[in-house]
Amino acid sequence: MQYVYSDVTKSNNFFGNSNPIDLIKEYGSPLYVYNERIFRERCREMKNLVSYPNFSVNFSVKANSNLHLLKIALEEGLNVDAMSPGEMFVELKAGFKPEQILFISNNVSAEEMQFAIDHNITVSVDSLSQLELFGTINPGGSVAIRFNPGVGAGHHKKVITGGKETKFGVDAKFIPQVKEILNKYNLKLIGINQHIGSLFMEGNAYVEGVKSILSIAKNFENLEFIDLGGGFGIPYHKQDNESRLDLTTLGEQLDSVLNEWTDSYGKKITFKIEPGRYISAECGVLLGTVHAVKINYENKYVGTDLGFNVLQRPIMYDSHHDIEIYRESDICSTKKEAVTVVGNICESGDIIAKNRVLPEIFEGDILGVLDAGAYGHVMSSNYNNRLRPAEVLIKEDGNPILIRRRDTLEDLIQYYNI
Ligand code: LLP
Repeated sequence: MQYVYSDVTKSNNFFGNSNPIDLIKEYGSPLYVYNERIFRERCREMKNLVSYPNFSVNFSVKANSNLHLLKIALEEGLNVDAMSPGEMFVELKAGFKPEQILFISNNVSAEEMQFAIDHNITVSVDSLSQLELFGTINPGGSVAIRFNPGVGAGHHKKVITGGKETKFGVDAKFIPQVKEILNKYNLKLIGINQHIGSLFMEGNAYVEGVKSILSIAKNFENLEFIDLGGGFGIPYHKQDNESRLDLTTLGEQLDSVLNEWTDSYGKKITFKIEPGRYISAECGVLLGTVHAVKINYENKYVGTDLGFNVLQRPIMYDSHHDIEIYRESDICSTKKEAVTVVGNICESGDIIAKNRVLPEIFEGDILGVLDAGAYGHVMSSNYNNRLRPAEVLIKEDGNPILIRRRDTLEDLIQYYNI
């Protein structure tokens, strides 16, 4: 087989003892492939972000909730956040203890809140009305609150979760009302949290957000933790040598801000962070097959099985993912050209890369969509009644194992009363 255009996965030996062609033959196309070594490396980088002693990394599993990856995160000493009973359920199944889970709720029902309470999982609420609800169903209990620090950041307006234009968090001007509700139900506020948005590549906005939440935290005595949120970015433009987020500088800045704050608070409370993308994005490559190449008027289209049912990020946020090319045949070409890489879904917006300059691609080629391990499979769907792909893990010894099977046609009809 030829690695036609594959510098990134070659340089980190992504496929170990296997290769993209054999993986597709064995497990079908399209296919999510994860690399265990890279996943573990990212867990460790986050754990070592600061030297502050009481520091916890909560993997934000919305990025990737594959049970096998969660077990590895647990082995690496990470904790987790959860957005739903489903995530809590899977995390408990993976072996996380209730005290390792933080339920960051948003507009949840009483039953959903009760699910967390019944499982001894700390709930963070993000409105006065949900704090009232918590007080009603669990008077005298311990609770956390998500604040909106008034600043936001992110790669797209849909993923900015702090600031004046988002639904998230409690506006700090309502602190007096927060205190009233806490008193009314005899609740203990044990933590506060924030998440200002997803994907920053330089740390200043994050550090500013941290300073804001710390100034909010001063209003409350006896906090046990402050959760600073996630959002740590990864370079999606590796083929253009985009630099990585400078974790050393960010860590130093954080250490100084956190130590100074705890000195004045009088207690070395726990600080948590909530990275999702940083932990899992780069351990994942989405493989797919080229089924057609054609010219429609001015555009050359590469038609694949990588529809937005499989990876939503390009259509949802205009996100860029680097693409590699692998080939079984011995066709050779030195041509480079601009092509639009599309999927097989019945919508003209079904585009994975628009006008991308790539080496010439032929029918039968396998494409590798890089950095697909976060918000990839978790956001896939059965739209057009297509089957969600299998997930394979390249273990640390370099050998692949199946960690989630591909959907079957029978799966598509299992929920109907027929
Ligand atoms: N904590 C909270 C409360 C969040 O809402 C999120 C992400 C995270 C942590 C983790 O953020 P991360 O470290 O992964 O940036 N689907 C979008 C991203 C949505 C992020 C939503 N919240 C994407 O594919 O870019």
